[in-house]
Amino acid sequence: MKRTEIKSLLQTNEFNGMVNVKGWVRTKRGSKNVAFIALNDGSTIHNVQIVVDVNQFDVKKLEKVTTGAAISVNGQLVQSKGKGQTVEIIAEELEMLGEADPNKYPLQPKKHSLEFLREIAHLRFRTNTFGAITRLRHAMIFAVHKFFTERGFYNIHSPIITGSDAEGAGEMFRVSVLDPKNPPLKEDGSIDFKKDFFGKETNLTVSGQLEAELAALALSKVYTFGPTFRAENSNTPRHLAEFWMIEPEVAFNDIHDNMDLAEEMLKYLVQYALDNCEDDLDFLSKRQQDAEKDKKQDERQMELIEKLNFVLAHDFERITYTRAIDILRNSKPNKKGKFVFPVKEWGMDLQSEHERYLVEKEFKKPVIITDYPKKIKAFYMKQNDDGNTVRGMDVLFPQIGEIIGGSQREEVYDKLYARIKEMNIEEKTLWWYLDTRRFGTVPHSGYGLGFERLMIFVSGMSNIRDVIPFPRTPQNAEF
Ligand code: 4AD
Ligand code: MG
Repeated sequence: MKRTEIKSLLQTNEFNGMVNVKGWVRTKRGSKNVAFIALNDGSTIHNVQIVVDVNQFDVKKLEKVTTGAAISVNGQLVQSKGKGQTVEIIAEELEMLGEADPNKYPLQPKKHSLEFLREIAHLRFRTNTFGAITRLRHAMIFAVHKFFTERGFYNIHSPIITGSDAEGAGEMFRVSVLDPKNPPLKEDGSIDFKKDFFGKETNLTVSGQLEAELAALALSKVYTFGPTFRAENSNTPRHLAEFWMIEPEVAFNDIHDNMDLAEEMLKYLVQYALDNCEDDLDFLSKRQQDAEKDKKQDERQMELIEKLNFVLAHDFERITYTRAIDILRNSKPNKKGKFVFPVKEWGMDLQSEHERYLVEKEFKKPVIITDYPKKIKAFYMKQNDDGNTVRGMDVLFPQIGEIIGGSQREEVYDKLYARIKEMNIEEKTLWWYLDTRRFGTVPHSGYGLGFERLMIFVSGMSNIRDVIPFPRTPQNAEF
């Protein structure tokens, strides 16, 4: 018999036919005569209930139907009499596909901590939480492509192995086939990378932006959506060493167009989640409310769906860095010494405590900060006439802080070249990037959305390790 997915079974109106379902047992309960099996196949957060007349089946076989086991069931689909479900299956045949020894299977039908689930990341897909997150993640990936496709953007695959440092921050993982114990050396004793696989030093990319710019200067509107890697030793709930980034790049756009695009995109993605992921969001909302109970009143987050609607309902506040510093300097937490990093001088980098203050306390909505000091931003940002600031923009969200970083790009060759020199960036790794400023250069802008930061926001999870299947963080690359 052909298998029917549980999702479509639960939506059906045709009863009293035979169906086949396959899946993993969530729970089995019941009495001497009748057993109820809750079966899930990942197509939806909901389980289907299998009703088993115990007397009609081999006792030994039924005993093995335990949490985590995989089974195939043929039975009659009937309207359910039980509360909270619409259909159930009266089992006629039951086949064991894969047992799960209850003495060894680590996922029991009780609440497990997220920390524990990270240690069994190979099995955590089988929980309601990670099932919901995985489906939501897929929906968001699809929505990203849909958003850009509807607006005439082309998706570019930027390289994963590169010879340049797009952010100029030196936080890269080396890619090499040289023997680390015995590398070929040059006469001066340094490693001879000419003998390496690519004949030069290469790394995993920190961003696809530079290559996206090349494409935008021909196709006008492009975006990348790829894995990016950062060897920064940040052990926070918002940092991964391997994460996915969406980077649109648009020719002829200035910083204001760039902000408009970012705001429109974020709202589109949130709306898509609300429209298409109702069951999973309902579950995640309840989970979040549960987790919030342990927190102090003033640290509690807004209920998930309310929070998503809240973002849709408000224009993002747009302020300059200079204004942000003024507000922060005069803020209560700063005056009372509550910030870990006190706000004193113009020129300091903003920490996530500052970003969150602006969003959650001062403006109570998402904030876009522009015109940062050039000293704290990357070489490629468009320089303002004041000589001190650049046309960069960060989009700040509640709970997260920075969710997007971007800028208008410096399109004037001499200015870009001078900045590269000033920042001691190796010009020879960027000759091709500089070339675009010599041939048909135009104003252009783009930004990067950290996909997992978006996922934290739409799922209401509080740790970035729980919104990507297999997180890569310092000292952790197990699965
Ligand atoms: O601000 P970032 O470093 O900007 C860039 O990489 C630019 N090249 C983007 C562009 O203009 N095309 O990173 C962009 C976003 C951040 O706002 C954040 O959401 C996310 O990427 N991000 C991280 N997410 C998870 N873990 C990390 N270690 C991250 N670092 C940045
Ligand atoms: Mg940034």
